[in-house]
Amino acid sequence: MKTRIIKVQQRDGSPSEAVLGRWAAEDGENKIGNTQRRENATSTSKNLNSWQVPSPADTTDPSAAADLTALEEAGAYLRTSDIPVAFPTETVYGLGADATRSGAVKGIYAAKGRPSDNPLIVHVCDLDMLRSFLLPRGETINGSSSSEPQGETIPQIYLPLIERLWPGPLTILLPNPQLSKLAPEVTAGLGTFGCRMPASALARTLIKLAGAPLAAPSANASTKPSPTAAQHVLDDLEGRIELILDGGACDVGVESTVVDGMCQPPVVLRPGGVSIEALRACPGWEAVEKAYKDQAEMGAKTAPRAPGMKYKHYSPKARVVLYEAGFEGGKSGVLEEDLDKALEGCVGHEGREKAIAVIRTKQWPVAAGMRSVGLGQDSRVQGSDEDDNAGLGTTSFFVRQGALLSANGETTAARLLDVDLGQDIKRVAHGLFAALRELDRLGADVIFVEGVSDGDDIAAAVMNRLRKAASDIRA
Ligand code: TXA
Ligand code: MG
Repeated sequence: MKTRIIKVQQRDGSPSEAVLGRWAAEDGENKIGNTQRRENATSTSKNLNSWQVPSPADTTDPSAAADLTALEEAGAYLRTSDIPVAFPTETVYGLGADATRSGAVKGIYAAKGRPSDNPLIVHVCDLDMLRSFLLPRGETINGSSSSEPQGETIPQIYLPLIERLWPGPLTILLPNPQLSKLAPEVTAGLGTFGCRMPASALARTLIKLAGAPLAAPSANASTKPSPTAAQHVLDDLEGRIELILDGGACDVGVESTVVDGMCQPPVVLRPGGVSIEALRACPGWEAVEKAYKDQAEMGAKTAPRAPGMKYKHYSPKARVVLYEAGFEGGKSGVLEEDLDKALEGCVGHEGREKAIAVIRTKQWPVAAGMRSVGLGQDSRVQGSDEDDNAGLGTTSFFVRQGALLSANGETTAARLLDVDLGQDIKRVAHGLFAALRELDRLGADVIFVEGVSDGDDIAAAVMNRLRKAASDIRA
């Protein structure tokens, strides 16, 4: 199968975003959770009911018309094909399929090599689409089957979240009705389905044009780091899918936060792009708890986990050694004993010279204190000089390449690769998966990563992913 990449401009946050669609205007009676709204008339009410997409023929800007034409083509393909389409969202690239057709959803599992007991997130373009899937098959929102005017069918607990955090990197669990319109393969037999409305206008327009919600996991091969650029998708899935929509680098860089509000207190099932801080600020969510196992996975002190016990996820080919921010011995860089272990045997993958890599964040010096020569020839990853000022969507980081010196400082012990993701946690999240993938591409055998302290911000998501990717954790 030939894999085609179609470029579509991601216009999020720019004035030209509107060329891809707009929210339908309405009279105010029908906004999110209308009953609440009247009691609380002073709060700003967002109108997320209906996302409307113009036809390419009505679009004067030629580049916008071309993008809309491409999205129409992809939408039409999604309606009939059982092969999924990769598309950009603000978090990571998704591998989308019509969530109502079993054949299409099975195509996702086949392309990814993913076990089918892991449920998929359903992506909607607007609240009308979501509401329609809260009703059983055969019922529509304004259907003649009911004479009563419909009240709000979205559970009340989610209304403040939707109001403040949608569209965006937040997935909510909703009750899946008996006789659901969703293909059973989406939910893996659970009584709930995960749903999110992406902030990416491009993604919402694609969903609208597909005419159905898109079930979409991250578009990586199972166990690999999630893709944050079209090239990453191609690296993993070339020959397994026909279409990749290339909207450039993803803004957030880590996946959505997954929450369950159907229990008391509500819980976070996966930390992600929306911080726990932001959740706590929403009415009804003040007591939200973490329900994901992170600390437990860290293991005892410095003991490495047995390789067989490692839950393979977000993993590059290289062995990842994570230094937790609280690890006293690792404040100024990589420990001699860890480096010695990494250099053991001193032959890398496939008999090449060994390559040792570092990903730095807050305070490690260049090369994480290792003896090096020749570092400083920077190669830029993602974006170019010209678009570096266009916001996080195109930010880049540098990879320095040089040589690691042996203990006597006289001979070369290995190649050395150094990435600095910087101090800003949003930038760290944005570049993390891309850095892991780039170091793989450059042949790293071991990657030492400087962890950050995980508070209630996006650092929780960064550390969650790193702990899953790591074979050894220094804590
Ligand atoms: O940002 C994201 O969420 C990306 C983009 C493409 O939207 N998608 C993504 O999908 O990360 P995936 O399949 O890689 O991760 C989905 C997560 C899994 O942890 C899964 O277990 C959880 O959501 N999930 C989905 N439906 C669920 C359900 N009904 N109950 C519990 N967990 C669910
Ligand atoms: Mg994933």
